[in-house]
Amino acid sequence: MKIWTFEGGFDENLTYLFSDGTSDDAAIIDAAIPLSNLKSTIDENSLTPSKLLVTHTHFDHTAHLEEYASAYPNAEVCVMSGSGRWQNEQALSHGDTIQIGGLTATAIHTPGHTQDSTCFHVEDALFSGDTIFVGRTGRTIGAGSDTRQLYRSISGKLLTLPGNTTIYSGHDYGPVQKISMKENIEMSPLLQATDEDDFVRRMEEYERSR
Ligand SMILES: [Fe+2]
Repeated sequence: MKIWTFEGGFDENLTYLFSDGTSDDAAIIDAAIPLSNLKSTIDENSLTPSKLLVTHTHFDHTAHLEEYASAYPNAEVCVMSGSGRWQNEQALSHGDTIQIGGLTATAIHTPGHTQDSTCFHVEDALFSGDTIFVGRTGRTIGAGSDTRQLYRSISGKLLTLPGNTTIYSGHDYGPVQKISMKENIEMSPLLQATDEDDFVRRMEEYERSR
């Protein structure tokens, strides 16, 4: 598997391009960056994105999705539960799998930051959107956010993944751009919560100290 990372957009956003390293099929995760920033990498590697994966529909993660979709009109826009916003949309449910060349991406529905928050698990990579960053979880201050739901999503569906899973998040907010699950738990007080109530307390404390 090959992963290319692009940083920019609204707030140190991260857009990812990945392929199996042999076929010309590729996927892009989150359209946060103008296509012109990715285009030379896509072309130099003779790739044709067939899937545009959406970690959640906050505007900064979908800002350039129209542009990507018109450049790659055969690409499917894969988004949890379907938003009805884009042509060629593929509505995802928890556990759905998506083929990209020889790779299989599994959609993990992780509501909490938003109701449509989705992580994509591909081999030992987890594209975590705004559910988990390096050093902390996503915030739950927006419309549709739910702190308790975020705890259940993370503890039940993400912390159970192998410790060597590499987290590729939606923003470059930490001291490093990517990190293993094991190291991230070790450095993140929010990921060390002992139960749901403890997580709520830790989140309140985090928001107070910002
Ligand atoms: Fe977000």
